[in-house]
Amino acid sequence: MANKDHWEKVYDTKAPDAVSWFAPHLETSLNLIHQATTQKAAAIIDIGGGEATLVDDLIAEGYTDLSVLDISQKAIDVARNRIGQQAEKVHWYCADITQATLPQNYFDVWHDRAVFHFLIDQADRDKYVHQVMRSVKHGGYVIMSTFGPEGPLKCSGLDVVRYDSDHLHGQFGSQFQLINSSTEIHQTPMGTTQQFLYCFCKMV
Ligand SMILES: C[S@@+](CC[C@H](N)C(=O)[O-])C[C@H]1O[C@@H](n2cnc3c(N)ncnc32)[C@H](O)[C@@H]1O
Repeated sequence: MANKDHWEKVYDTKAPDAVSWFAPHLETSLNLIHQATTQKAAAIIDIGGGEATLVDDLIAEGYTDLSVLDISQKAIDVARNRIGQQAEKVHWYCADITQATLPQNYFDVWHDRAVFHFLIDQADRDKYVHQVMRSVKHGGYVIMSTFGPEGPLKCSGLDVVRYDSDHLHGQFGSQFQLINSSTEIHQTPMGTTQQFLYCFCKMV
């Protein structure tokens, strides 16, 4: 099954709070975004945002230049409908991140929770890094979260690559300064746990 079909089916058949990656609020992501910028006009993009409430929380905090990209139209529709009128202010992209057309040299903050780890081919990871380098401003911040070294081998039935901070930072290279990294145990709605890694980088 093609990647897009897989994700459309997931979001067609599962409630937002019934997927393993669900969290009511992405607290760690929010904290890292606050570390990156408190400028409410900062351009922030959430890659593979799915049905996560990160964009709702950023709108509520007063951020005005928000973008969400996801391969699933269904996920985008759920998030848009939940947000209501305020969703009109958000830039929504339904696209595969390895092929998307994003504005050049534009974003102050790039956020990805649990998307990059699905890229199991080096060629796709290279395309992803190229997207970051093309669309994030110099001096901008990149927040990447993947499964950690003790995380699951699969997510949503798909193989993933697990990372420690050196391995993840190594995918991005010397133009990305690793400011800090941490691991976190995520409690899934099914009562299991998953180790996530967070890397907070600056483009230099
Ligand atoms: C595990 S979910 C994480 C969702 C959200 N970031 C969160 O933390 O709740 C992965 C998300 O990435 C999206 N996705 C998967 N592969 C993608 C790709 N190549 N390009 C864009 N989005 C993708 C899926 O549709 C899904 O919404």
